[in-house]
Amino acid sequence: MKNLFSMQDKVVVVTGGSGYLGNAMVSGLMAQGAKVVVADLVDRHASREDDQYGERFFVACNLAETESIRQLFQKAAERFGHIDVLVNCATFGASGSVEEMSDEAWAKGVDGAVGTTFRCTREIIPYFEAVNGGVIVNFGSMYGVVSPDPSIYGESGQNNPANYGAGKAAVIQFTRYCAGHLANKNIRVNCVTPGPFPDPKKLPPEAFLKELRNKTMLKRVGVPDEIVGAVLYLASDAASFTTGANLIVDGGWTAW
Ligand SMILES: NC(=O)c1ccc[n+]([C@@H]2O[C@H](COP(=O)([O-])OP(=O)(O)OC[C@H]3O[C@@H](n4cnc5c(N)ncnc54)[C@H](O)[C@@H]3O)[C@@H](O)[C@H]2O)c1
Repeated sequence: MKNLFSMQDKVVVVTGGSGYLGNAMVSGLMAQGAKVVVADLVDRHASREDDQYGERFFVACNLAETESIRQLFQKAAERFGHIDVLVNCATFGASGSVEEMSDEAWAKGVDGAVGTTFRCTREIIPYFEAVNGGVIVNFGSMYGVVSPDPSIYGESGQNNPANYGAGKAAVIQFTRYCAGHLANKNIRVNCVTPGPFPDPKKLPPEAFLKELRNKTMLKRVGVPDEIVGAVLYLASDAASFTTGANLIVDGGWTAW
């Protein structure tokens, strides 16, 4: 039987590919033979041991700007000839409490979650049409499915802003909309929804980590490699009959 999860010679653009989860996906996709375009503000992983497995091409871009997204896809297509998969992983701009958030701050956070996903989706369509189809994997969040429980944050300073979850809920709905409206172009659109994957570099306090662990059924937080399988499934031919789905990878957080 053929390897359903093979990404051999497929060209995948990963937005936010320099980030905590994005970098793990880049490794996982390359290990399956993909040619990966890392789209991010900066390249934090320029020297990587696993680059021997496949081709990796970094493109500096600002996903808040349509022109920058256009240049990203143009550069990716120039380098590899075509694009097969788009992983919309980058998110930015959400902060603040409901009581104190300005209209501008609200709009910036929602735009950083769903606006950029929309813009990248719109701009990739002609590239997918050129090869008679494609795959989009969006990134939601458990906080686009359930509310953060304010009682677990204490003095951690890691409180989750309202515009983040609102934007992520919109990503999950936008995924379903696009799955329905782009199927006639042979484009599959799905969403991966991570639960708690705290980045050690953001120094989450131990008391807060304990609260996070307790909220999951598995009583632990996730590590980046644990998101890779879900993305690989949705990006590969293994998911050829899957579209409009939201695959939740959260240790059971949202299933209680
Ligand atoms: N880590 C978690 O616990 C968790 C939980 C739920 C959902 N998620 C989602 O998973 C995805 C990845 O999360 P992460 O923890 O790896 O985040 P991260 O902050 O480590 O990575 C985000 C990346 O996006 C890049 N980026 C930000 N603004 C950009 C811009 N304007 N243009 C181009 N690139 C830009 C950053 O440089 C960074 O590399 C996000 O969509 C996030 O919302 C993460």
